[in-house]
Amino acid sequence: MIKVICLSALILLIGLCHGETNFQGRIVGGEDISNYYVSYIAQIRRRSSTTSAYAQTCGASLLDNRTLVTAAHCVYNRLAENFLIVGGTDQRAGMDGYVTRAEKIVIHDLYNASITDNDIALIFLSPALPIREDNIKLSAISVASERPSVGTYATVSGWGTTTESGLSSNLLQQVQVPVVDSTSCQEAYDWRPISDGMLCAGLPNGGKDACQGDSGGPLVVNSQLVGIVSWGEGCARANYPGVYTNVAYFKNWIDQQRASNALV
Ligand code: ARG
Repeated sequence: MIKVICLSALILLIGLCHGETNFQGRIVGGEDISNYYVSYIAQIRRRSSTTSAYAQTCGASLLDNRTLVTAAHCVYNRLAENFLIVGGTDQRAGMDGYVTRAEKIVIHDLYNASITDNDIALIFLSPALPIREDNIKLSAISVASERPSVGTYATVSGWGTTTESGLSSNLLQQVQVPVVDSTSCQEAYDWRPISDGMLCAGLPNGGKDACQGDSGGPLVVNSQLVGIVSWGEGCARANYPGVYTNVAYFKNWIDQQRASNALV
């Protein structure tokens, strides 16, 4: 009898510890997700010179078969030739999915690197990625025209680190975080501006967030792109929400840039 109780207690303990290790991993506090369900995500890999290897550095979202939107800080001061773009995979490394190149990079004129303001850029691809109606592994996402209301749960995905100073995830991760009002976000980040071009999301107690390497990637509500992973104080800390580019605020800029860079 005692043996049975001890054994069950042991199994319970192992279960609990195991549960806790799981909780540590993933974006931060998220879970594995197939790219089937995040078919609008693309991966940005970068090499530091023409002779070095490519490694995943950022995420991006597909607006159409030749246009990606990402964070300006992901591409700022870098040459287009040093990027490799990969779509249609949930693997951080390897050659799964569709591989293409950055033909042209357009960074927002008002991007301010010192305060990460207007953190948005477009990447025009060549060749285009194969988006087809019958191929749901790769699809375009539409840009939200309004900022999501406070409390709305939004989904963020990426291959970034799974703890503040941890390692990147080999498999695509996803987590849900509620939108936080800008006034309290500004109170938390009282040493730097939270501009109209920014959007904050996170839980009061932290635990779930984007992290290093998730930058440029999508924050989504109702199948529309509402945010781009931009910055944060550490990752998943209590009282420090993640800060995203407020995509709706840049909708006109996105439309203008897409129009003036359209293929003729
Ligand atoms: N700047 C980071 C990157 O380049 C993203 C940081 C997001 N941080 C956060 N706590 N949500 O990958």
